[in-house]
Amino acid sequence: MRDINNFSVDLVVTSPPYPMIEMWDNIFSTQNPEIKKVLEQKKGMHAFELMHQVLDPVWSEVYRVVKEGGFVCINIGDATRTINGDFTLYPNHMRIQRYLTELGFTPLPCILWRKQTNAPNKFMGSGTLPAGAYVTLEHEYILVFRKGSKRKFTNEVDKKRRRKSAIFWEERNNWYSDVWFDVKGTLQNLNDKVTRLRSGAYPFELVYRLINMYSAKEDLILDPFLGTGTTIAASMVSGRNSIGFEIDETLKDIINNALSSIEQVGNRYITNRISNHLDFVKLRKQSQKQIKYKNIYYGFPVIMSQERELYFNEILSIKKIPENIYKVSYLDTPESCLDNEGNEISSISCSLPNRPIGPSKSFSGKKGNQLVLF
Ligand SMILES: C[S@@+](CC[C@H](N)C(=O)[O-])C[C@H]1O[C@@H](n2cnc3c(N)ncnc32)[C@H](O)[C@@H]1O
Repeated sequence: MRDINNFSVDLVVTSPPYPMIEMWDNIFSTQNPEIKKVLEQKKGMHAFELMHQVLDPVWSEVYRVVKEGGFVCINIGDATRTINGDFTLYPNHMRIQRYLTELGFTPLPCILWRKQTNAPNKFMGSGTLPAGAYVTLEHEYILVFRKGSKRKFTNEVDKKRRRKSAIFWEERNNWYSDVWFDVKGTLQNLNDKVTRLRSGAYPFELVYRLINMYSAKEDLILDPFLGTGTTIAASMVSGRNSIGFEIDETLKDIINNALSSIEQVGNRYITNRISNHLDFVKLRKQSQKQIKYKNIYYGFPVIMSQERELYFNEILSIKKIPENIYKVSYLDTPESCLDNEGNEISSISCSLPNRPIGPSKSFSGKKGNQLVLF
């Protein structure tokens, strides 16, 4: 991360290896051999602290590179483990929350998301006998931080970029709630189930939402613990630039496969968002509720004036150029389709679509989407 300039990143979305979850013991011990010894001596809390000390320098770098007003979203689960016969919780989210706050980040309300598990062994402890049974651990945290004070969009170009990045009103009601029950696995084709389990990948929907909630189109997104590349994939689909770092060389092919299949999958994802919105509009009309505004590019009704310029940049092509850089071309917005009164200006590019339709103009991500292995 040394190559990234100070104050250059708009948003960090990441999920580190989880301290005290056994699948990550090796990766921590490779970075600090003391951890292996301490685990063999069955000193759970000491190992927990040493593992977090492996992550701390990465968080410090994150603080350096994030812009004033930029956000950081960290997906993390707590761990439970039995050492010396004692079943114990290792509160990863608390340790990371404290460290980032000490670094100078402002903590914001976090999101809990429910992990879907039907495993029969999810209940822990003494079964139906009190008092030795423990509640299941089926949620993870998305810790949210801001650096400095509120982000400002001062010039007209930035304001327009922000307006085009709006999300639908009905999505806002769901996405900006503090508990997510509806986040499911990965997108079809992004990577298979075995790869996901082996790599601890988070759901595409989770990172896609966070990117669309905490950044604007053309922003720069960073993931210092890239894994299978989900953050870069979701950044590409959202029209953002991105950089990711991954220490495990064996994931390189998996990342490249995921990114080269994202064009079709991502465009289908966008189409689904639009068709969900059209379903919402239909229901709203059936219940005789008013919808006041129209989106200027698609012509469909929207609840708030802030959604009038919302636009999905469909991916036109993804080119891999040397040194693990991907260049993405997008369909760009038509100049305008409806005027302020809702009168149609251009009928060619603005017929009411059930998929994004726009002119043949395109733009490319300025900085590209970059994967760095080290
Ligand atoms: C929980 S996984 C991330 C999964 C990712 N969000 C995804 O969707 O695939 C954490 C990743 O961090 C990597 N990692 C561990 N220590 C690292 C370090 N010091 N720097 C960079 N990556 C590291 C691991 O190899 C692992 O792939």
